[in-house]
Amino acid sequence: MQALVVSPPAPGVTLREMPEPEMSAESVLVEVLECGICGTDRDIVAGKYGTPPPGSKELILGHENLGQVREVGSRVSGFSVGDLVVATVRRGCGSCRFCRSGHSDFCETGRFTERGINGRHGYLAARYAEVPEYLVKVPSALRSHAVLLEPLSVVEKAVQQGRAVRGRFDALPGFPPERPLRALVTGTGAIGMLAALVLASEGCSVVAVDRHGADTPAAALLARIGAAHVDTAAGLAALGADRFDLILEASGSPTLDFDLLGRLAPNGTIVLTGIPGADPTAFPVRGGALLRSLVLENQVLVGSVNANRTHFERGLAHLAAFRERWGDVAERLVTERRPIAEYAAPLLGKAGATIKSVLTLPAGAP
Ligand code: BGC
Repeated sequence: MQALVVSPPAPGVTLREMPEPEMSAESVLVEVLECGICGTDRDIVAGKYGTPPPGSKELILGHENLGQVREVGSRVSGFSVGDLVVATVRRGCGSCRFCRSGHSDFCETGRFTERGINGRHGYLAARYAEVPEYLVKVPSALRSHAVLLEPLSVVEKAVQQGRAVRGRFDALPGFPPERPLRALVTGTGAIGMLAALVLASEGCSVVAVDRHGADTPAAALLARIGAAHVDTAAGLAALGADRFDLILEASGSPTLDFDLLGRLAPNGTIVLTGIPGADPTAFPVRGGALLRSLVLENQVLVGSVNANRTHFERGLAHLAAFRERWGDVAERLVTERRPIAEYAAPLLGKAGATIKSVLTLPAGAP
């Protein structure tokens, strides 16, 4: 079958024949319809991230997936040929308490694998086989944009982490607060935009920043959901004096991350989701002043990675809610779809003003 193959840590990517996946009585064979491309994929192709499966030099790329069941193993129940499915990404270590209870996103040993990223083949191939535990069924009404479910699951977890930290105020007098939570989202790629949708749908007042003017698809969509867009190409000063209760960072820029600490309101929480490069270059930080206000204002900095099945399920509920409230806003986050043969543009080209680029497999061709 055709697959998009990388050989990390060597840079590069090729479309070529790979062996068919191995089916068993316990698995489901899935025909891939389409896969989204994200910064992680681009980093793997650039040779900066990712590991092939043990004993192999090659890794099939792709983790943001949508597929359709083609064959159901004889010992599998609950799945039928034709069902739409999204597969989760991480497979637990099997030994720590989190992995053993379905929360491998909090794995403590680091011995997990991630399909299409670390140690296990991904979904940018004609087909894959998987056990039901890792497959999330998707209603056919969400076919047009369910490829966003994996990045949305990452957002669901990050927002949940932010809310868990804020939960420390829940039992105190005066909570819930009278005013909506002031949320800042940094970056208007798919993660930032999905975060803006989740937070706006949950009643937060949302400001999203990027380094573009008002004439992008992202800025137009933010206006549709009542979120403010601010161009911070010239720095965070464009935000005026505003400070925020919850900051969801989706840019992966370490210098910006430190600057954002100064934008936290008293008792505020910042959740980092962007994965900065491991570039060892030092840069100046006003460390003492930043930590001083963190202490004096009860602020929290938290990192969040990956997601578990519950976050995919919450994401499905949100996709339906977004449509109900804002029509096709979430669909429009997919700004381009190309056949898999055109992989070079989203994986090697300039990131540009696209929100989410999607590669379609032959089974998902329009
Ligand atoms: C994926 C996550 C993964 C993370 C780190 C992200 O792009 O969406 O599932 O855990 O990369 O590898």
